[in-house]
Amino acid sequence: MYLTKEEERIYEGEKGWAYQTAMRILVKLGDLFEADRLISIDSAHVSGVSYKTIGDSAIELLEALVEAGAKSKVRSTANPAGIDYDHLEEMIALPEVHEKQARIINLYKKMGIDPILTCTPYYIRRPKEDVHLAWAESSTVIYANSVLHSWTNREGGPSALAAALIGKTPNYGLHKSENRRADVLVRIELDLKDEAEFGALGIHLGRTLKDEVPAFEGLLNPNENQLKHLGAAMASTGMTSLFYSCTSCPKSSDRLETLSVDAADLKSAFESLSTTNEAPDMVYIGCPHCSFEEIKKVAQRIKGRKVKNDVKFWVCTSRYVRKKAESYVKMIEAAGGKVISDTCAVVTWLKEIGIDVLMTNSAKTAYYAPTMNNAETIFASLDQCIEAACQ
Ligand code: F3S
Repeated sequence: MYLTKEEERIYEGEKGWAYQTAMRILVKLGDLFEADRLISIDSAHVSGVSYKTIGDSAIELLEALVEAGAKSKVRSTANPAGIDYDHLEEMIALPEVHEKQARIINLYKKMGIDPILTCTPYYIRRPKEDVHLAWAESSTVIYANSVLHSWTNREGGPSALAAALIGKTPNYGLHKSENRRADVLVRIELDLKDEAEFGALGIHLGRTLKDEVPAFEGLLNPNENQLKHLGAAMASTGMTSLFYSCTSCPKSSDRLETLSVDAADLKSAFESLSTTNEAPDMVYIGCPHCSFEEIKKVAQRIKGRKVKNDVKFWVCTSRYVRKKAESYVKMIEAAGGKVISDTCAVVTWLKEIGIDVLMTNSAKTAYYAPTMNNAETIFASLDQCIEAACQ
């Protein structure tokens, strides 16, 4: 991979160990995927923030980087952590975990990475179309490419952090227009009703397409929330990081191989996401983190109802959206629910909170909770979730 004189000097260690390490990660990645050069990025989004998912060795690396003077060169944001410190009573009562999680957040802060702790940073600042990004978190990446029309590979935590420190990323994969062409035309032969059904479609397509780029035919005016659930689920069961919802279909898509999805495919994907018929002890909305419209919808549906005493009703969103939707947050709280920020059901310690059975309208959470949280799951529509949570 070609490096400019300045990049070469960083590679050789002229700016210190932190930048040398970051540059070496980017060059290794670039050589592996045959990138021709590094390109500037508009922003980075870093994953690997929850102490539950990264553990002690990652803290040591972050500490070493901070000590060596690492600072982000571009606007950079961070994914959810393991705890919402405003709802500590809901969270795991282990002081060591609180201390280590706070340390991680603080280390990112010291590197100039905004600890907004959300997987939906685009609700706070929407990147422009056609800009290059280095974003981690699969649901965020597929949304950026497909809905925001920005350009990013699916970074891991370390490569997103390296890109943040250098302000550049290797030019390969979805940074090149020839790799952004649709591979398959997916014909949707059914009407999708809500976010849960869009999520189930994503689960089915991720399993079927692996990393192929689909262009959809027959998705009837999907909104951005529905596309968010479709993409998050597709990127959970597969490696796809881009789709065309066909308001933006590439011209050549009529010559592509075709895959049809019918009601039977959707039903089987939907049913595969439930592992039990038992009553839930938590009903969870907000994976990926809720938008303003989603909070409003939950509030309007739960208004005047009362959450059962033995059920926790959680809605997760960013602090930014929580503040913006304050009046709707109050309606959810009045019904006995909690609007949680900075974390989510998957990256917090559900078992320690006492959750064995989780009900959700998020296909991504339903897919991950049995393995990541050792929880039984019930996958259902928002209305069914609210019905099950309330008296
Ligand atoms: Fe976000 Fe957590 Fe889901 S990070 S995409 S809410 S698993």
